[in-house]
Amino acid sequence: MRITVFGGAGSVGSRVVAEALSRGHEVTAVVRDPARLHDLHAAADPRVGDARNGDDVAASSAGQDVVISATRPAPGRESELITATEALLAGLARTSVRLLVVGGAAGLIVPGAGGTTVIDDPLFQPPADFRALALACTAQLEVCRAESVVDWAYLSPAALLEPGERTGNYRLGTDELLVDSEGHSTISMEDLAVVLLDEAERPQHHRTRFTAAY
Ligand SMILES: NC(=O)c1ccc[n+]([C@@H]2O[C@H](COP(=O)([O-])OP(=O)(O)OC[C@H]3O[C@@H](n4cnc5c(N)ncnc54)[C@H](OP(=O)(O)O)[C@@H]3O)[C@@H](O)[C@H]2O)c1
Repeated sequence: MRITVFGGAGSVGSRVVAEALSRGHEVTAVVRDPARLHDLHAAADPRVGDARNGDDVAASSAGQDVVISATRPAPGRESELITATEALLAGLARTSVRLLVVGGAAGLIVPGAGGTTVIDDPLFQPPADFRALALACTAQLEVCRAESVVDWAYLSPAALLEPGERTGNYRLGTDELLVDSEGHSTISMEDLAVVLLDEAERPQHHRTRFTAAY
């Protein structure tokens, strides 16, 4: 497959690029800052582009099968996540390219908590400086849900998403937070990349949110 990754030098994006390359895909990895080109995997096709820019989206997605968005704005600029998602959807609406969005866990429903979502549950509160990002991720999902042309899927990670090991194991869900027998909700970034590449290769989710955790 031909896959483009926006945020290709980021924590999640770089693992997605590595996982895709390890499976033999042709990967275009996009960074916003030319200074970060050297951070990209050497086997990826490097590009400079901003997901908020329609021309950059068009140039980086032409002829591709899937675009994976793993961008994260700087603190204080969280609304950029929404404009980037709008631009990606608008750019891909004239194509048949799928969009897989790495989103946030904030809007997932906590099991057994009467419908409370992660962002409102004291047990799962992100650090204070991540709250604005968590809210932006929730708004990002609404942007996707308003889209009816592009074949998109929005992946909400587990509540705790950190660098770790690639195990290849995970469980999938829809709108409810997946927790283990001790109530923890975790997945490594390496395994989140596995989830994304499995979805890219064997699409199961269309215009919907899904989640993954151990
Ligand atoms: N449990 C959770 O819900 C959870 C936990 C962690 C992460 N996440 C989500 O995972 C996603 C990726 O996070 P991360 O940890 O990988 O972030 P990261 O390490 O900060 O990487 C994000 C990358 O996106 C790039 N970027 C930002 N805005 C862009 C734009 N408009 N166009 C192109 N590239 C852009 C950044 O480039 P610059 O350096 O140029 O800004 C950066 O390289 C985010 O959506 C985040 O919310 C969710």
